[in-house]
Amino acid sequence: MIIAVDGPSGSGKSSTARGVATRLGLRYLDTGATYRAVTWSAVDRGLDLDDTAAVAQRARELELEVSTDPGHQFVIADGTDVTAAIREPRISAVVSKIATNLDVRKELIRRQREIIDDAQNSPQSGGGIVVEGRDIATVVATDAELKVHLTADQDARMSRRGAELESGSVTAEQLRDQIVRRDADDATVSQFLVASDGAVTVDSTHLSLEEVIDVISRLAKE
Ligand code: CDP
Repeated sequence: MIIAVDGPSGSGKSSTARGVATRLGLRYLDTGATYRAVTWSAVDRGLDLDDTAAVAQRARELELEVSTDPGHQFVIADGTDVTAAIREPRISAVVSKIATNLDVRKELIRRQREIIDDAQNSPQSGGGIVVEGRDIATVVATDAELKVHLTADQDARMSRRGAELESGSVTAEQLRDQIVRRDADDATVSQFLVASDGAVTVDSTHLSLEEVIDVISRLAKE
């Protein structure tokens, strides 16, 4: 069984998707982490991010290991543990540029499908995987048994990124700019944010994390 959870930045999809996987004893894949890992590698090597061919080549060459254990997430890129580094603001600021490189997408979608297949065949899979991203229901796993489009209004999405605010690394104004800009950047590859046919839209603006996990877990059991 594949459960696809798509939605914009700050809609709560990571915590939700991981929570559903834990609740139902399934594997979990954060596809955003694969885009972040390629971005980290391109930045680490000092590549010109506008050189689409060079960045795509990096994506194809990168040795990438992404954990599908919802209780123990890690990302290893070319032997380096980049679990924390890929979340740094300097990566978040440019990841959309990498994610709108169609050759990078082609390569990462291929790898994501491989990870999904491997996870489903693993003895720990519990028979399925929750896959989170922007294009899971529309592109990566169009045959997913359950497709969830998670939304939340902009204020709710901002407050969920509150940790960054509290750490003092960004101001509220900067955070709003980042969210608005990333939405706009992401929308340039138009299929990302379009709800797929057969997807259930869950608006999490007024729901707690536990409530969203309840809703999706119930849908999965139907
Ligand atoms: O949750 P948040 O938006 O902060 O980031 P993420 O899920 O880690 O994804 C980082 C970026 O990767 C997004 O802003 C998209 O540009 C891109 N992405 C994508 O294009 N397709 C996906 N399936 C997942 C992420």
